[in-house]
Amino acid sequence: MSAPFPLGFPAPTAFYLSFYVLTLLIHVMFMSYVLAGTGYLVAVHFLPGGFAGSRHRAPLAEILRDWMPFALSGAITAGVAPLLFVQILYQRAFYTANILLFHRWMAILPVLIAGFYLLYLLKIRWVTEGPPARGGFIALAAWLCFGFTGYSWTENHLLSLQPAAWPVFFGADSLFFWTGALLPRLGLWAAGTIPVMALLLGWQFRLTYEGTPYVPPYEIRRLALVALAGLLLSALAGVGYGSFLSPAAREFVQGAAGEPYLGLALIGWLIQAAIWLTVWKRASLRPGLLGAASLGAFLSVLGMTVLREGVRITSLPAGRLYALHERASQVGGLPVFLFFLVLNAALVGWCIVLARKAKSSPGPGEDLRDLLDRR
Ligand code: HEM
Repeated sequence: MSAPFPLGFPAPTAFYLSFYVLTLLIHVMFMSYVLAGTGYLVAVHFLPGGFAGSRHRAPLAEILRDWMPFALSGAITAGVAPLLFVQILYQRAFYTANILLFHRWMAILPVLIAGFYLLYLLKIRWVTEGPPARGGFIALAAWLCFGFTGYSWTENHLLSLQPAAWPVFFGADSLFFWTGALLPRLGLWAAGTIPVMALLLGWQFRLTYEGTPYVPPYEIRRLALVALAGLLLSALAGVGYGSFLSPAAREFVQGAAGEPYLGLALIGWLIQAAIWLTVWKRASLRPGLLGAASLGAFLSVLGMTVLREGVRITSLPAGRLYALHERASQVGGLPVFLFFLVLNAALVGWCIVLARKAKSSPGPGEDLRDLLDRR
């Protein structure tokens, strides 16, 4: 392929791939907050010291606990759009494969429901005002639910990359798929979600606590350290995962189609590392710093998501897939899709305007700052 992704693909394939990647980016943002955020909550419940004697009552933990159910519903909702595109893109390797996997695959639903309720449980007074270990075990149970879901997606993805393994795997009704690349890939996701979560939390922290006396510098420094650790671990896991790539996948990553995105991912990584180091040194979350870290995170996640897709499409019989995409593009429905895209974007925008208006003229409700004031 001699042009950067998605230009070297036939038009219908390029269309589906682009929308798939863009919608998956939104899912990654929310699920990072959920996966890494519940992991953070587990840690602060079990680690002693810090804010007013207990870290789980500190501002960052308060924000995470408060927003986590919303973030989970965001992750689930934002998973639907890429789910639709991935089925068109890979058909047998995704759609048919997951029907065959039925029980194993559907297991993520009850697990996610349990995770949802655990997040609400984390917010009740019996937990927030109880001993830290109580909240710690509930956060741990929630993290295990989301970890299992992420693990299931990774396992499923790796299975889809190995057509040679399908007859034995599906023929035996196996429930779990093992391959050497599973651990580094899981590590890449688990660590890669940490800086994204830190960034989102940094913005929330800035917007919620700006100008209040509740901004202890050690909270900001700890957030920067967490982000830096995530960046370092994700780089190590990325190198580990790279060693498992097939020659065809390697050719994509290092060729004209993938190399620009590898470059973007690395530049994004460097920007993030430089910014979080600065945040750690200055104990400051100025919007300029957060803006630059956001750009870095966007470049890294975009670059990695494109490489992820290039690796998959080069592992499957591309010619057959192109023909299926061509057929799908002729079924029609694009005007309906675009109509609902614009309509929903307008409705979401309207909801944001309404919420901002309500915030600038507060009603009888209480916000986080009121709660802290009364503490
Ligand atoms: C908190 C819950 C969730 C977590 C932690 C999570 C995590 C992940 C992870 C780690 C991946 C990447 C897997 C890989 O590339 O190895 C992924 C992919 C994906 N997730 Fe989620 N996910 C969650 C919920 C959902 C839900 C409920 C949906 C659907 C409604 C969904 C839709 C997707 C899709 C479509 C992909 C791409 C699959 C592919 O390209 O093969 N996710 N998710």
